[in-house]
Amino acid sequence: MKKFSAIVIAAGRGTRMRSRTTKALHPVAGRPLLWYMLSLARRVADARVVVVIGHQADRVRAFLDQSKADFEPFDVVLQPEQLGTGHAVRQAQAVLMPNGKAASKHCLIVNADTPLLSRATVRRLLARHEKEKAVLTLLSTELPKPRGYGRVVRDETRQVLKVVEEADATRVERAIHEVNAGTYVVDTLFLFKALARVRAQNAQGEYYLTDVVGLAVAEGRKVVGLKTSDSLECLGVNTREHLAGVEEAVRHRIRARWLNAGVTMLDSRTTFIDDTVTIGMDTVLHPGVTLEGQTNIGSGCVIRSASRITNSVVGKAVTIQDSSVVEQAVVEDHATIGPFAHIRPGAVLRKQAKVGNFVEVKNTELGAGSKANHLTYLGDATVGKRVNIGAGTITCNYDGYKKDRTTIEDGAFIGSDTQLVAPVKVGRGAVVGSGSTITEDVPADALALSRSPQVTKEKWAARERADHSEKEK
Ligand code: UD1
Ligand code: CA
Repeated sequence: MKKFSAIVIAAGRGTRMRSRTTKALHPVAGRPLLWYMLSLARRVADARVVVVIGHQADRVRAFLDQSKADFEPFDVVLQPEQLGTGHAVRQAQAVLMPNGKAASKHCLIVNADTPLLSRATVRRLLARHEKEKAVLTLLSTELPKPRGYGRVVRDETRQVLKVVEEADATRVERAIHEVNAGTYVVDTLFLFKALARVRAQNAQGEYYLTDVVGLAVAEGRKVVGLKTSDSLECLGVNTREHLAGVEEAVRHRIRARWLNAGVTMLDSRTTFIDDTVTIGMDTVLHPGVTLEGQTNIGSGCVIRSASRITNSVVGKAVTIQDSSVVEQAVVEDHATIGPFAHIRPGAVLRKQAKVGNFVEVKNTELGAGSKANHLTYLGDATVGKRVNIGAGTITCNYDGYKKDRTTIEDGAFIGSDTQLVAPVKVGRGAVVGSGSTITEDVPADALALSRSPQVTKEKWAARERADHSEKEK
């Protein structure tokens, strides 16, 4: 028989968050709270994992569908009305007790709102439960300010008697500093038998999972309380303040992970890295850098202050100068970007490409070694290798109705202040004179110029000045 199933209860609304989004979906370092708990459950359980959903079930289910590849197999059950944590766990009975037989000897139960809980601590809890042959083992911690948590009530021999919710606690009980972390291991058969006996006769009119503790004690079964000294791990997110605290702690852990993997951070406190990001060795992150979403940064890169990279792949030895934004883009090895550049979705900067000051690139491939160094917009363009795009070049990709493409072939030279009115193509090795408005294709190796010829009038300026000073007299 398998040893441990796991139940993640995530059906509650999270009223205290004051949000239109259900609590389990609130992100921490770029991943929903529920992600952390499901990840933990899936890694420690050898049997089934069940997620109980309810409030905003459709949204939560959509997230779970997306996460299938990461965490399969797991089951999802619905708690149609949120009648309490005990009621939530009961919804897993059909999955964990098919035909009245337990799918595993024990069951780990976790709330969806304790993302700092570590695998090591949960494994300790499981081991302790087995070693003590307990029917129920719960995780607790001492808090200087226990407000909001259920209190662990022990007798004079330090044996756990029950967990009492704050709303139901006497003054004496409220003075207890040992709190329930909301993480339990319970004998599966006992769990569902006991839950059937839980009543909602309490201050909140809910079916409390915590009542199972008292029921076990009343039956003379063995209950163990494992107290951890790492109370941060037990932090349950009920409010935005808690969420901010957890965010800070998770970010701190993520930074430690990358510092230990050989990444330099000049000001780690202002470096924001989502849990979804990977970073290569010897990359240097300057103050205020944000790396988010599905972003992979190669080794030996330098990313300077106040730059943000979202859902992008960045190769090796790439330099991103200050205050640049890179979104849904691919940047190959040795490319350089910025300062003040905006690399937008669909941009592909090939090896050693250069994008400089105040340049915007969207849905455009910029070939190897090509440069757009100043004040340029490249949208819906395909630019070949070793192309030079002069300052102030604009691809006019939108005619008010539809977008068209601009193609610039290898080795072409686009003079400064050029407009390329798409659809248009500049052939291999062609030169476009500066100040041109190009509306027709330019053949390979040709020169195209569209500005009017220069007019020069000798001595004109001097005569003007003389005229003016006459009049002023
Ligand atoms: C719970 C515990 C408390 C403990 C604390 C630890 C109970 C009765 N209380 O309180 O002893 O100190 O966690 O953080 O269990 N949920 C459902 N369905 C429901 C209600 C809740 O799935 O009907 C889920 C929530 O989505 C959440 C978890 O259960 O993930 C805990 O609910 P929450 O309301 O945060 O419980 P606490 O008041 O924090
Ligand atoms: Ca909670």
